[in-house]
Amino acid sequence: MSQLSLAVDVGGLRLRNPTMNAAGVLGMTAPLLRRVYEGGVGAVVTKSIGPEPRWGHPNPTVVAVEGGMLNAMGLPNPGAEYFAEEIMRLKESRVPVVASFFGASVEEFVEVARTLAGAGADALELNCSCPNVEEELGLLGTDPANVERITSAVKGAVDPPVFVKLTPNVADIVEVARAAERGGADAVTAVNTLKALAVNIDMRRPVLANTTGGLSGPALKPVALRCVWEISESVDLPIIGCGGISDWRDAVEFLLCGASAVEIGTAVMTRGFDVFHDVAEGIRGYLEDNGFKEVGEIVGLAHEA
Ligand code: DHB
Repeated sequence: MSQLSLAVDVGGLRLRNPTMNAAGVLGMTAPLLRRVYEGGVGAVVTKSIGPEPRWGHPNPTVVAVEGGMLNAMGLPNPGAEYFAEEIMRLKESRVPVVASFFGASVEEFVEVARTLAGAGADALELNCSCPNVEEELGLLGTDPANVERITSAVKGAVDPPVFVKLTPNVADIVEVARAAERGGADAVTAVNTLKALAVNIDMRRPVLANTTGGLSGPALKPVALRCVWEISESVDLPIIGCGGISDWRDAVEFLLCGASAVEIGTAVMTRGFDVFHDVAEGIRGYLEDNGFKEVGEIVGLAHEA
């Protein structure tokens, strides 16, 4: 193995390499997240945590589709008080933790952020972009004014860096990224899942109990790349690329389009925990083969053609 360092800085969070797991996949308990860290991520991202315990939606909540999967879990989680203990256990093992969180109001976002930051989270990822809970939480992440207000309130309340995870379910993602920037975000994560639907022709009904769900996996990748590209052209914030990354080549595509780091979700289901190590080492090989000395040298390079 070479001496080339894969370390990156994303909005003030130092990572040993530019990979993270995407929120929601595997992120419920400290032992599981510790296993993700051993799999090779730069930092672990937790499942999205809210103010109170939630059961989420009834089954079926997940369905495989061409090129990926749909899910509508409904943000099941044990609540911030309980999850604070899991974060403390992770910090005892020195695992860098990005705590994903949500709320139904500015006050709830702030309260949950305070609890998770107080437990020792190294960064917070503000999830205002779940496609499956519109009735309760409103379309928070599709309204730039809301995104700015929530981001600014959270930034005023906690010390760790705040990443805002953006939804692709908007006409102009740049407008929402700019709102996050005005609110003081330290980075944006692009993107969350794309609202979608699957039908069972024998039941003559949508497959998911929630009717619609969020599309993830390879089918989402070109959409996510386009979002990263557009944000990178217009907004001066670090970008964490997310959406359909299955191998190191996908990750390099995101870096070239302007992402400083990447999150991997659905591919963990198909490729297991080793996907993180494989992607990080694949990036290392690409840098070496092409004469680069660090990850930052290729961030956004595709814009310079
Ligand atoms: C859920 C939340 C998300 O942010 C997402 O992208 C997909 C699903 C959920 O818990 O339903």
